[in-house]
Amino acid sequence: MNEQDTPILSINNLSKQFGPGCAHCRTGEADRLIKNYCPKCGAVYACQQISFDLYPGEVFGIVGESGSGKSTLMQCLYFDQEVSGGEAYIRTYKNGKVNLFGESSQQKRYIRNHQMGKVYQNPILGLRMGFSSIGNIAEKLIAAGSRDVGSMEARGRELLEHVNIPSRRMKEPPKNFSGGMQQRVQIAKALSNNPPILLLDEVTTGLDLSVQASVLDLIKQLQRELNISIIIVSHDLGVIRMLADRTMVMLDGKVIEYGLTDQILEDPQHRYTQQLVHSLL
Ligand SMILES: Nc1ncnc2c1ncn2[C@@H]1O[C@H](COP(=O)(O)OP(=O)(O)OP(=O)(O)O)[C@@H](O)[C@H]1O
Ligand SMILES: [Mg+2]
Ligand SMILES: [Zn+2]
Repeated sequence: MNEQDTPILSINNLSKQFGPGCAHCRTGEADRLIKNYCPKCGAVYACQQISFDLYPGEVFGIVGESGSGKSTLMQCLYFDQEVSGGEAYIRTYKNGKVNLFGESSQQKRYIRNHQMGKVYQNPILGLRMGFSSIGNIAEKLIAAGSRDVGSMEARGRELLEHVNIPSRRMKEPPKNFSGGMQQRVQIAKALSNNPPILLLDEVTTGLDLSVQASVLDLIKQLQRELNISIIIVSHDLGVIRMLADRTMVMLDGKVIEYGLTDQILEDPQHRYTQQLVHSLL
């Protein structure tokens, strides 16, 4: 089988709930919930049985309204949250044979540092705002085992140049930077250890339109140059249309539609997706 035809990441039935649930909601019958929420006990079923594959070099989009579970899904993939159930496999980790969610916290740290990079919507979560920008990158390199200061500095420079942070500003802390620049530093940091997978959660939300466009251009450029696999989450179908080869639509913690982005835009099947597409026109 061709390398390109084998998923780099496979997710099977990932679920995440907040709260233990009760006799009313544990039956799993959807009509007992209000959206993703149990009115009897207050449990939130944030992600329900999510499955998808990510292929080498593709950009996979996840779109859905606020509260549909997109960030929770990304947090579970990056081990920021513990899953309630499900499996994940990465082809470049133990030959894709071991469920990541069952690994020790030490192994999970290894996976976070070598197999994945993540960019958060809120740069405060992804960066140390008071450290120098190049220091933020060094931290990620050290986490993956680097020790040589000279080579870390060179790598930091290279990464920051790649995302268009001028070298004279590399020693400055991200708190001095504009929102767009902070996202660029986060992207450079996420790429530090050449991970095969990049997770982007609402990277451009809240930025000015022109800044948004330049960050999206950067992502496109990196994807072409590095052939990295990207999952990009957004509530904005415009962002997804611009970047994603395939798209998954989420609503109330569930996948309601999944396919080629062009096809979803041309012929949305679910009523919610139809509304989303029409609002774009
Ligand atoms: N720590 C938590 N405790 C309880 N409920 C939570 C927690 N984190 C998230 N939720 C709930 O899980 C659901 C999914 O939230 P999530 O942040 O994943 O949505 P989202 O699709 O990323 O939305 P947005 O577009 O606003 O970022 C929401 O109902 C939210 O209230
Ligand atoms: Mg979110
Ligand atoms: Zn309940």
